[in-house]
Amino acid sequence: RAMAIVADLDERCGTPLAKLRQVADAMTVEMHAGLASEGGSKLKMLISYVDNLPTGNEKGLFYALDLGGTNFRVLRVQLGGKDGGIVNQEFAEVSIPQDLMVGSSDTLFDYIAAELAKFVAQEGEDFQLPPGRQRELGFTFSFPVMQTSIDSGTLIKWTKGFNIEDVVGQDVVAELTRALERQGLDMRVSALVNDTVGTLAGGRYNNKDVVAAVILGTGTNAAYVERAHAIPKWHGLLPKSGEMVINMEWGNFRSSHLPLTEYDHSLDAESLNPGEQIFEKLISGMYLGEIVRKVLCRIAEEASLFGDTVPPKLKVPFILRTPHTSAMHHDTSPDLKVVADKLRDILEITNTSLKERKLVVQLCNIVATRGARLAAAGILGILKKLGRETLKNGEDQKTVIALDGGLYEHYTEYRKCLESTLTELIGEKVSESIVIEHSNDGSGIGAAFLAASHSQYPDVEE
Ligand code: BG6
Ligand code: GLC
Repeated sequence: RAMAIVADLDERCGTPLAKLRQVADAMTVEMHAGLASEGGSKLKMLISYVDNLPTGNEKGLFYALDLGGTNFRVLRVQLGGKDGGIVNQEFAEVSIPQDLMVGSSDTLFDYIAAELAKFVAQEGEDFQLPPGRQRELGFTFSFPVMQTSIDSGTLIKWTKGFNIEDVVGQDVVAELTRALERQGLDMRVSALVNDTVGTLAGGRYNNKDVVAAVILGTGTNAAYVERAHAIPKWHGLLPKSGEMVINMEWGNFRSSHLPLTEYDHSLDAESLNPGEQIFEKLISGMYLGEIVRKVLCRIAEEASLFGDTVPPKLKVPFILRTPHTSAMHHDTSPDLKVVADKLRDILEITNTSLKERKLVVQLCNIVATRGARLAAAGILGILKKLGRETLKNGEDQKTVIALDGGLYEHYTEYRKCLESTLTELIGEKVSESIVIEHSNDGSGIGAAFLAASHSQYPDVEE
């Protein structure tokens, strides 16, 4: 019976290439629809107001604040101007207390403003700005925001583990600015960016062939560089560069081609945001462990896996996190010791048989493989939109996609599967010119660069 449930799951989670191509095509279609009109698609295709990516000529001292992953980060960067590179950078990382994610606007923003104030208070003499000059900050806020300019935008909805009602519909820059004032910190937010946009900017600084960025972490999303005249819903002036970065919010993508199972439907129904972020719930780090838990729970109930009674801990939502399933998935010891340890420590299930442990590994593999392959299909969708999924005659064009996020960074099997699936989809030959690059914490640096290029002081670009 247990094996039958696993076999059924394996079949339902199947992602043969033909299916992935359908997903990629649906993604491309939705991208067009989202660019055509506001509300035209599940894909919001948000205009970022970033129409120039870093050149490397940016100069001066800038700050960045990165909110929206597991951790919250504060960063200070000294940019050296032309050929100067990054002269100095320092950061602090704090995890966000769970209760703040579902509290009130003021408690959240006061907390991050206080952390920023602490960071600034600790800096030495070397980081003084000329008298009368305000500190400037790039704010990476990793949620869907309807921007009204590079330095303002209202929160459309929360995603991932956040749910603070009184922020929805508010300008998050105004909220942060007020909190900074309450801390007595004189700092101006000069750029508001999504983490994908920050990663794209940071990635471009390192490599001029970067055209898109994907985050695979707690949540998942992508941003890419679009031609401004290919955005019918954009009624503003055409930017000089002719380009505009689009924050896709691909986590909210949905298509009849997605291999959804009963476990996914149940996870969605019990989530903070039912009916939303369906692609994200199949792919990203917040959910993979929970899907595995749901399947295990069902097998325990229906096939008495782990004995006659269902282990109580197994019934606790989100107790099994993706880092746990990742560790079990990577267990190479002959008796699957890591799996045994995790089952004991996290779920209080002792004396497991090797057969049971193998089944657990198999489940982790099925769920992670589906996620990674769907993420690869999403990337193919972007490449198709850009017309870069095939080799153009005689052209020697490199395409680089910047990737970041805890899932991509730490879940090796997931990352390998994503990369090999992309190669399968585009073919060995094309894959030589399409490169996935890890952009380590690029979003903070990217935000600082964008703060520099949107500074109120004219001398920051040399
Ligand atoms: C980081 C990026 O590396 O990954 C952040 O710098 C991003 O901007 C984050 O939000 C996502 O990570 P996670 O895994 O904590 O959600
Ligand atoms: C969620 C957010 C999105 C963010 C992504 C990765 O999908 O809605 O804005 O980019 O997570 O952090």
